[in-house]
Amino acid sequence: MKTLNEIKNYTINKFREAGLINYQEEMLMIISHSMSLSKIDILTESNIKISTDKYSEIKGKIKRRILGEPTAQILGFRNFLDEKYIVDKNVLIPRFETEEIIDLFKINKKVNEKEGFNCLDIGTGSGVIAINIKKKFPEINVSAIDISKKALVVATKNAIEKKVNINFFHTSIENCNLSNINYILSNPPYIRTSKLKNLSKDLTYEPIIALDGGKDGTKIINSIFNWENQINKNNASLIILEIDPEIKDRVISLAKSYYPKNKIKIHKDLNYLDRFISIT
Ligand SMILES: C[S@@+](CC[C@H](N)C(=O)[O-])C[C@H]1O[C@@H](n2cnc3c(N)ncnc32)[C@H](O)[C@@H]1O
Repeated sequence: MKTLNEIKNYTINKFREAGLINYQEEMLMIISHSMSLSKIDILTESNIKISTDKYSEIKGKIKRRILGEPTAQILGFRNFLDEKYIVDKNVLIPRFETEEIIDLFKINKKVNEKEGFNCLDIGTGSGVIAINIKKKFPEINVSAIDISKKALVVATKNAIEKKVNINFFHTSIENCNLSNINYILSNPPYIRTSKLKNLSKDLTYEPIIALDGGKDGTKIINSIFNWENQINKNNASLIILEIDPEIKDRVISLAKSYYPKNKIKIHKDLNYLDRFISIT
C-alpha cells in the first residue's frame, strides 16, 4: 500500500523533471480524477491509502503525460464553459479561447430576429460550439458538419450527454449541400502546413486534419466562404470564425473579396490576440 502523499510527491517530481509548467494543476487533475476525490481533498489529505493497482494505474497516466500526451486525452474529457466534454484522439481538444465564440454570437446576433433560425457549426470536432449554441439558444435549429466520422461519434456522445438536439452531418465543407443557413460559426483548421512540422509535442497528439489550414492557413476558410456564396447563396446574416492571428490580414482580404458590402470586424481573445473575425 502507498499513500496519497507518496503519489503526489512522485507525480510532482516527474512532472518538474519533464519541464511541465503547470505541474501542480496537472497533478491535481490526474490524481483527483483517478481517485474520484476533489482537488481540495488531494491538496489537504496526505495519508489516504492507495491500493497497488490504483498506484500503478496513476503511474501509467503520469508516464503517458511525460511522453507528451495531453492531460485531456489521458483523462478522456476537457472542460468547456465549466462543463465536461468527452474528448479522444480523434478530436481537437477544445481551447479556452474558443469559448469566446459563444459570447461573440450572443453579442452579434441581431435581436428580435424570428425564432427558428438555422445555425451551422463547420468542423464541429467534439461538438462544443454547436452544443453550447443550442443550450443557450434552444429556439435556433443547430446543425454541425465534420469531415471526420470519428469526430462526429464524439460530438454525438457529447450532445446526448448534454441532452441537446443537433443535426450532425458527415461531410466536408467542400461537398456540403446544406443551405438556408442564417448563422455560421467555425473554428476551422488554420495552421499553415509548413508550420505543422514544428508543432509542440502536445499538438502532435491531435488529428492533423483538425489543424492543417493548407499552404497559407486559409484553405478551409476559403472553402467556407465559397460554400456560403455558391450553395448558401449569401443567406448568412452572421459569420464568426476563429483564426490564427498570424493570418489575420489574409483572412480579412479574403472576406472582403467575398463580402465587399458587409461589415467585417476582428475581435481579440483574452490574451489580446486577434483571434476572431465576424462578418455581418
Ligand atoms: C480546429 S478543429 C475544431 C473543433 C471544434 N469545433 C473546436 O472548436 O474545438 C477543426 C475541425 O474541422 C474538421 N475539418 C477539417 N477539414 C474539414 C473540411 N474540409 N470540412 C469540414 N470539416 C473539416 C476537422 O475534422 C476538425 O474536427
